[in-house]
Amino acid sequence: MLNGKHITLGIETSCDETAVGIVADGREMLANVISSQIDIHTEFGGVVPEIASRRHLENINSVIDMALDEAGITIDEVDLIGVTYGPGLVGALLIGVAAAKAISFAKDIPLVGVNHMHGHIAANYIEHPELEPPFMGLVVSGGHTNIINVKSYNTCEKLGSTRDDAAGEAFDKVARVIGLGYPGGPKVDKAAKNGDKDAVVFKRVYLEQGSYDFSFSGLKTAALNYINTERQAGRDINVNDVAAGFQEAIVEVLVDKAVGAALEFDQKRIVMAGGVASNSRLRELISERAGEHGIEICAPSPVLCTDNGVMIACSAYYAYQAGERSGLDLDADPSLEF
Ligand code: KG4
Ligand code: ZN
Repeated sequence: MLNGKHITLGIETSCDETAVGIVADGREMLANVISSQIDIHTEFGGVVPEIASRRHLENINSVIDMALDEAGITIDEVDLIGVTYGPGLVGALLIGVAAAKAISFAKDIPLVGVNHMHGHIAANYIEHPELEPPFMGLVVSGGHTNIINVKSYNTCEKLGSTRDDAAGEAFDKVARVIGLGYPGGPKVDKAAKNGDKDAVVFKRVYLEQGSYDFSFSGLKTAALNYINTERQAGRDINVNDVAAGFQEAIVEVLVDKAVGAALEFDQKRIVMAGGVASNSRLRELISERAGEHGIEICAPSPVLCTDNGVMIACSAYYAYQAGERSGLDLDADPSLEF
């Protein structure tokens, strides 16, 4: 407890960020320390799981100390430990789970295992104090693309997901194909700002009528085919136009399905989450289309869109309030469902 407030420390190590966040009463951010491994993985063009685990192991204790310092508290003032236990890379998850269990045991602090995807949604509660479920969730990250009917803090109904590549994965793959490099999302976002979204048009994939599922794997092949055809014809490729056209093909489908789901389930708000939620064109188009139906849009600022410990602390707080507890038998679950 700190000044009568309940303190949660959240640990996130599911992919390539060693992150620890501290929140008061589930809503107020006291610390947000993110140690990114992006420089090392960039050398390999993507996340190398074995390297990620080793780095988490080297970093975790100092990242926890830095977060406590930033919040101006000691571990004895922490009331709850939240930790991502899935989905993610198993070796990476294990480091966070082991650290969380060790602190919980040594300091006798309750422990709650958090679903990383629930965490992404919870990131919104920090900057939108009035936000409460129910709402429609659009979770778009490097590993997942989901439309989620969020009924309460701890009840999520999955309406759709990707059948192949996640939205962020498609951004990363196409960025590589067109020579923008890794990580693809922010680079495509930036290049697209100088491009014409109607110059190179990629097919929108909607799947069956009424489906909230996605399929993005064809976009990489389409981008490759386009580039090869142009090269063979001796024409120059305008990377900015390709980026803008590709981005529009992803964003339009995401927006149409998310707005469609909100209308079908009579939700007045769409809450975005995950790394791709920081995409500027996605934010612009979804606000425009949702606005036409009086639907409000909510999204975290970019630093809380990508992986962080604050969202895990926030999600753990609400799970704990609902009576959830994890024991020292908490294990990593790399393919945990929403
Ligand atoms: O949520 P996140 O940090 O990690 C996962 O849990 O997967 O999301 C990372 C993904 C990457 O694929 C990255 O390229 C994408 O989010 N991303 C973006 C943008 N910023 C990050 N995609 C499109 N536009 C962006 N501005
Ligand atoms: Zn994530």
